[in-house]
Amino acid sequence: MVMPLKRICPYDGSLTTTGVCVSRLFSPLTIRSTTFANRAWISPMCQYSAVDGVVGAWHLAHLGSFAIGSAGLVMAEATAVTPEGRISIGCPGLWNDAQVDAWRAVTDFVHAQDTQIGIQLAHAGRKGSSMQPWSDHAIAGPEDGGFGTVAPSAMAFPGYPTPRALTTDECDDIPRIFAAAAVRALEAGFDVLEIHAAHGYLLHEFLSPLSNERDDQYGGSFENRIRLLVAVVGAVRAVSDTTPLFVRLSATDWTDGGWTIDDTVELARVLTQCGVDLIDTSSGGNVANAVIPVGPGYQVEFAERIGREVGIATNAVGMITTGTQAEEILAGGHVQAVMVARAAIRNPHWPMMAAEELGDVIELRPQMSRARLLPKA
Ligand SMILES: Cc1cc2nc3c(=O)[nH]c(=O)nc-3n(C[C@H](O)[C@H](O)[C@H](O)COP(=O)(O)O)c2cc1C
Repeated sequence: MVMPLKRICPYDGSLTTTGVCVSRLFSPLTIRSTTFANRAWISPMCQYSAVDGVVGAWHLAHLGSFAIGSAGLVMAEATAVTPEGRISIGCPGLWNDAQVDAWRAVTDFVHAQDTQIGIQLAHAGRKGSSMQPWSDHAIAGPEDGGFGTVAPSAMAFPGYPTPRALTTDECDDIPRIFAAAAVRALEAGFDVLEIHAAHGYLLHEFLSPLSNERDDQYGGSFENRIRLLVAVVGAVRAVSDTTPLFVRLSATDWTDGGWTIDDTVELARVLTQCGVDLIDTSSGGNVANAVIPVGPGYQVEFAERIGREVGIATNAVGMITTGTQAEEILAGGHVQAVMVARAAIRNPHWPMMAAEELGDVIELRPQMSRARLLPKA
């Protein structure tokens, strides 16, 4: 006879036999009024498969498969707040009602699996108007549906067109545009709002002295370069008191003279005061030839440092591929969750696999339960 598993929950000390937390990775996490069933989260991943910014069956299958696989949070891909904020002509948006309705089909399905879904509100800045990565040419011309790009300064990212520098008035208006998209995101049923301020897209371009040469109140000093992001956070936070608000940051440009982890820690302190709940800690993307020491968990140290020094919740991301690795990251005590991208492309049911690896008996969707190797009770 197989004996039921009995473990001590590391968070509340309870003795558990089935269906409740045993590892840190599969312990619940509550942020504001939202409880995530576990801390094995899916990182946002562009699919380049929307039409006029409207998501479809591909997105339902892509994001739905992660919910079926017992992720604690599914974060939808970079979603543009305005048409010229798209990375590619195939990126989704939230600037009109048709987009809201299409997203609703996705959020309804994910919720039916008892899973939370977040959206990453984004503006591509100077890294916009591309074709899909699998196209035979990189940049979308007018005949492809391409568009002119904007940025803090008229400095091109290698391989992209030179953007137009935003006027001060246009900068002043960006928080309103993000807030309007946040309203639509809530109408579409999203549980978490994440502001994309990483990877060399618009808000990161303002943060980094390597891409921001402005001489108005949005450029120059640290306070000026963070001004736009702080205003965007304020506007989005004002949309809802109860919705968890995350910000994805590139902790470093990995380049001398660029944005640094010290800057990120300072910024995280400010964002904490502005009502941000969690820093989703990534890195890079603003400098084409930066030398990045990519390897297992290579960005974890940044998430840990932010958590330790600022006291805000963080998640780690970047080459996290096994349950054991994720559990060790959480055991450090400064990181509250992990996000997984490419390992989840390879196996959309990655959380199920990680639970099995850790010896956890988690709730599965009933349709998935015959895949269970460990006994339920
Ligand atoms: C296909 C693909 C699309 C991505 N799209 C986004 C995106 O929309 N927003 C974002 O912040 N990061 C994006 N990323 C980065 C991932 O979210 C993640 O941070 C990165 O891949 C490192 O995690 P991993 O090693 O688990 O893949 C993407 C990554 C991949 C592989």
